[in-house]
Order: sequence, then structure tokens, then C-alpha cells
Amino acid sequence: MSGPSVPFPSENELYSNAWAKDIFKGKVVFCTGGAGTICSGQVRALVSLGANAAIVGRREGNTKNVAAEIAKVRPGATVIGFGCDVRDADALVSVVAETVKQLGRIDFLICGAAGNFLSTVEGLSTNAFKTVMDIDLLGSYNTVKACLPELRKTKGRIIFVSATFHYTGAALQSHVSAAKAGVDALSHTLAIELGPAGITSNVIAPGAIANTEGMERLVARTGVPEDLKKNPSKMNPLGRWGAVSEVADATIFLFSEAGRYINGVALVVDGGSWRTGNAPASFLYPTIFLPDAEKNFQFGTAKGA
Ligand code: HXC
Repeated sequence: MSGPSVPFPSENELYSNAWAKDIFKGKVVFCTGGAGTICSGQVRALVSLGANAAIVGRREGNTKNVAAEIAKVRPGATVIGFGCDVRDADALVSVVAETVKQLGRIDFLICGAAGNFLSTVEGLSTNAFKTVMDIDLLGSYNTVKACLPELRKTKGRIIFVSATFHYTGAALQSHVSAAKAGVDALSHTLAIELGPAGITSNVIAPGAIANTEGMERLVARTGVPEDLKKNPSKMNPLGRWGAVSEVADATIFLFSEAGRYINGVALVVDGGSWRTGNAPASFLYPTIFLPDAEKNFQFGTAKGA
């Protein structure tokens, strides 16, 4: 294979040119994990197409800075940043109330807050496993619960940002895989339970997305062979990793009128990678067996990895 079969979008692309301007005028998006690269990309795209937004992140100062940056994408846009931990159900209720006070409504919910680090099963303490379950799964539940009264008023739409690790299994990701499997199940259930109220619930499952903090941090802390880092075409039918704007496109589609009958799906945005058995973290697998594995990756002790 020589190079990607579908070109990588330009760095400045917020989304493809498939969408009419202002399609989300008057809509409000509420997004957890909104200061991260993928979710801020989703919100930026929605705001550029007319929406206002509230984003939630654990680090208040950083989240407010990202909100201010996103607002610059469209003159007149309002984007609020809140410091809030999704494990704190009461804090989320307050943040939702403040969002409605300032922006009037919530039409679109993106549950994107996630925790991730690499560890073998033995390297995880009970608290480490629970921490990721609490952020990814319980945090998604808390967020839905807090937003539901507003989503019922607007016949809103929900997107959970999940993954593909759990389709295939992925070494060093037992905690994340278990949590994301739960997130998918939560979404599928809500699709049935909330459908009668006019609310849709879907999953977007990104594969390996280039130029994101999460991937770069994880890759940097492992002994991933250089040729795999530089040439991910070996792992992906389309010959490259994904772009943030391509996750944004899927988001726009699901929240647009074109997505109104789509409910209870997991839309995988990974170039077909998982179909080959290559979950995004499967390149980590050989690192366990490399001769220098212990040197490259200190199992269970690489805090913050
Ligand atoms: C083993 C670890 C660990 C590590 C933390 N712990 N890091 N155990 N290996 N590398 C353990 C701690 O020792 C502790 O257990 C428990 O986890 C909780 O740690 P705290 O630091 O107290 O928790 P907290 O501050 O609440 O959050 C920790 C965190 C968080 C989950 C690591 O900081 C985080 O989520 N950071 C990354 C956020 C992120 O990148 N999100 C995007 C995900 S992107 P003990 O027993 O000591 O109390 C994504 C796609 C990536 O998921 C694609 C991959 C290929």
C-alpha cells in the first residue's frame, strides 16, 4: 500500500463542505470532556454552524480558555466553560441549571468525558479500575440524568463518544474497554427508552485520531515500534489515522435533520480499522513482548501515562 487512499483533511478543516451554514441556529449543545481535542472539535463544528454551547471539563481555567477559543469560530457565538467532574452528580445538575439560565435550552448532549491510561490488569488497583469506570460510565449516566429534563423539552439528541477497544479487546485497556462497553449498552438502552419522547441516543466510536493529546500521550509512553508509529497504513484499510474534523462530520450528521431517524446505532469513525482486528490500541500489544518492554513501559507504575 502506498499512502492513504483517502487524503487527510487540511489541518484547518472543521468539517467537510457537505453542510449548509446555520443549520444549528438557535440550538444549544452541552458537552462533557469538551476541553479535549476530539470533543472540542465536535463543539467547534456545531458552533460554526450556528449553535451555542456549554462545555464541561475538570480543569476550570483550561475549560474556560477552550470555550473562549471555540466562540471565536463564529461572530456572536456564546460558549460557556464550566469546571466540573462528571463523577459529581450534584455539581452536574448545577451546571446544567446555569447553562439553561444563560443559554435557554439544551438540544444536543455529547457525553465525551473519559479517563485513560495504559496498564496491565495486574498493574491496576481496584481504585484505578473504578476510577475509569466512574469517569466514563457513571459520569455518562450522571450527565444524561442531569440533562434529561431539558432534552425532554426539546426532543433532544444524545451522542456518547465511545471507542472500538471493546469490539476486539485491546491489551492494557481492560478498564477502558469495560467502561466503553457499558457506555454503548447505556446508549442502546436509552435509544429504546427515550425514543417515545422524541429523543435519540447514538454512539460515535472514533478509532485512532491523529493529533490528539490522548493518542500522543499514550503512544509516547510505550515502546511502539517506530515504523508502526510512522506508517499506520499497516493498521488501517484507508491507510491513515482519522482527523478530528471527521469525527465532527459524523456528529453534525447525527444532530442534523438528516440524522433524525437514526437511533440506537454505534457509528464507527475509524477507516474500517477494527474490521481488520486492529482496535486503535492494538499496536500496543506487541510492546508487551518486545525484548525492551520493561524498559519502554513500566507496567502499572507509569502514573499519568
Ligand atoms: C496504573 C494508575 C495510573 C497508571 C492512575 N492510576 N494512573 N494505575 N497505571 N498509569 C491509579 C492511581 O494510582 C489511583 O489508584 C487511581 O488510578 C486513581 O488515580 P487518581 O490520580 O487519584 O485519579 P484521578 O485524578 O481522578 O484521575 C486519573 C486519570 C485521569 C483517570 C488517570 O487523570 C485521566 O483520565 N487522565 C487522562 C484523561 C484523558 O486523556 N482522556 C482522554 C482519553 S482518550 P490508587 O490505588 O493508587 O488509589 C481515549 C482514547 C485514546 O481514551 C486512544 C488510545 C489508543
